[in-house]
Amino acid sequence: MVEYQQVTVAEVIKETADAVSIVFDTEMDYRPGQFLTLRCGPVARCYSLSSSPHLDDRPQVTVKRIPDGYGSAWVCDNVRAGTVLDILPPAGIFSPSSLDDNLLLFAAGSGITPVISIIKSALTNGTGRIVLLYANRDQESVIFASTLRELADRYPDRFTVIHWLESLQGLPTPRHLTALKPFTGFQSFLCGPTPFMDVVTQALKSMGVPRDRIHVERFISLSGNPFEETVEEAVDGDEATVEVDLDGEQHTFQWPRNKKLLDLLLEKGIQAPYSCREGACSACACRIEQGEVKMLQNEILDQEDLDDGIVLACQSLPVTDTVKITYT
Ligand SMILES: Cc1cc2nc3c(=O)[nH]c(=O)nc-3n(C[C@H](O)[C@H](O)[C@H](O)COP(=O)(O)OP(=O)(O)OC[C@H]3O[C@@H](n4cnc5c(N)ncnc54)[C@H](O)[C@@H]3O)c2cc1C
Ligand code: FES
Repeated sequence: MVEYQQVTVAEVIKETADAVSIVFDTEMDYRPGQFLTLRCGPVARCYSLSSSPHLDDRPQVTVKRIPDGYGSAWVCDNVRAGTVLDILPPAGIFSPSSLDDNLLLFAAGSGITPVISIIKSALTNGTGRIVLLYANRDQESVIFASTLRELADRYPDRFTVIHWLESLQGLPTPRHLTALKPFTGFQSFLCGPTPFMDVVTQALKSMGVPRDRIHVERFISLSGNPFEETVEEAVDGDEATVEVDLDGEQHTFQWPRNKKLLDLLLEKGIQAPYSCREGACSACACRIEQGEVKMLQNEILDQEDLDDGIVLACQSLPVTDTVKITYT
């Protein structure tokens, strides 16, 4: 079973009628844009950190209640100050490679959560320009409205927020978004419902933004539960060799060709990171230093990630006889 941490909730902050921030009474090492996996009763759900590791003393996630959603309702209805929650370590690769980059950010609804962490971190610890297009149903559903206003006032030369309210302007179309053409040289980060992301991706592509400058975070619900899963036993047979560098320690294992890398590592007692085990969340992302693997499923890594040698351990089988992997 996965090694998880138990953390006490310090505070629950009501952000809007249907969104709360859960502040944890613990210290945490994470990158802006990363997420935690929470045990929500019988299910597990991923929630992005809305705090900044550079600015905020305590980590927090922000959860928006989804109509008929199980996990989000469980958090909103059950979690109070003093509640102890089971969480997996911070994970994910929706994070700028440099806080000095110029950033063109797109968020819709709860998609602001990883994006606000990136904004706070880049404004306080970076030097670049940031433009945010933030879409919401109406004024009342805007999460972090006052924080964004304060940051725009404090950094007028570096930070611009464009609010898009569906109640006033309808849904954004690729044609509307061409107004952002002057900023298409920036690194783009997108997070929101699929139709919104599709429109933004289409607009960016039509303005000539290459795929490797478009970074996407998809808010899906896990269908498995990493807190409950057990690891399958190894099978004998044709094997490759894998060298793994994790947390400064090197390990070498024989790697059965039909066994996924994450399964192998967990079975060997290595605490490799993971969450969904479905190729959908990127918690298990690692880098190939030598050799080749094939992934059975990949719903999250983009071409730039693949070109950088990033792969999903939960979906990787060996292709070459020797593979070297490092966790960054
Ligand atoms: C990496 C990652 C980061 C995430 N970060 C956040 C975050 O910061 N904040 C946050 O609130 N959520 C976040 N999510 C989404 C979250 O994990 C859940 O998917 C979400 O809370 C819905 O779960 P649920 O159990 O309430 O709904 P479910 O019970 O899973 O779904 C119930 C019904 O609602 C539909 N549904 C699911 N999601 C949506 C949606 N977004 N809009 C409309 N209908 C939907 C489903 O199709 C289903 O019919 C993140 C997901 C991932 C993978
Ligand atoms: S654990 Fe989610 S992609 Fe591998």
